[in-house]
Amino acid sequence: MSPSLRALQANITTLPVDAIVNAANSSLLGGGGVDGAIHRAAGPELLNQCRLLGGCKTGDAKLTMGYQLPAKFVIHTVGPVWRGGQEGEPELLASCYRLSLRLASSNGVRTIAFPCISTGIYGYPVELAAEIALHIAREESTRDTGIEEILFCCFSARDLKVYTRLLETSKSAPTLSLAH
Ligand code: AR6
Repeated sequence: MSPSLRALQANITTLPVDAIVNAANSSLLGGGGVDGAIHRAAGPELLNQCRLLGGCKTGDAKLTMGYQLPAKFVIHTVGPVWRGGQEGEPELLASCYRLSLRLASSNGVRTIAFPCISTGIYGYPVELAAEIALHIAREESTRDTGIEEILFCCFSARDLKVYTRLLETSKSAPTLSLAH
């Protein structure tokens, strides 16, 4: 069965889902934004496990436990820094969503929440990023993933509006073209 796709406004660290996704940097050793919030809420054991992972390339994803978070797992992915859109940013961001969902699926995750990867400190325009997020979620949902619900966790009301509009309108217009 295809998972349901839903957007909500929340602090991702509070969500009782099987996995939350972290918009990390390639060191995986913490940072600001949602990364900092996740490390603070999970506690120091998260950093200890991250140290063993040897970093993460842009577009890739790695899994840890969630420790003191309500979520069982954290999937750390590294989004691209926005440099105008001609330097592979769309494909790299698509890869973050695709590989996070595949890692979730292979670990038995049924419910997963994503933040708006790359759209904070990394500067990716939220409208363009949201189109990619939804496109990949729908594309992956055509496979048998075992995932039942994909949440797009927006921190701001403005981001939530973008997702809500796209969820309502893009069902009939799956036109985004991305290299795999
Ligand atoms: N819950 C949900 N979303 C949040 C939260 C939260 N608690 N806090 C922030 N956001 P950013 P990036 C939103 O900057 O652009 C870090 O230093 C935020 O409003 O966290 O991928 C990493 O270590 C925005 O919509 O991630 C990297 O160095 C979204 O999360 C770098 O930032 C992503 O913003 C990654 O930058």
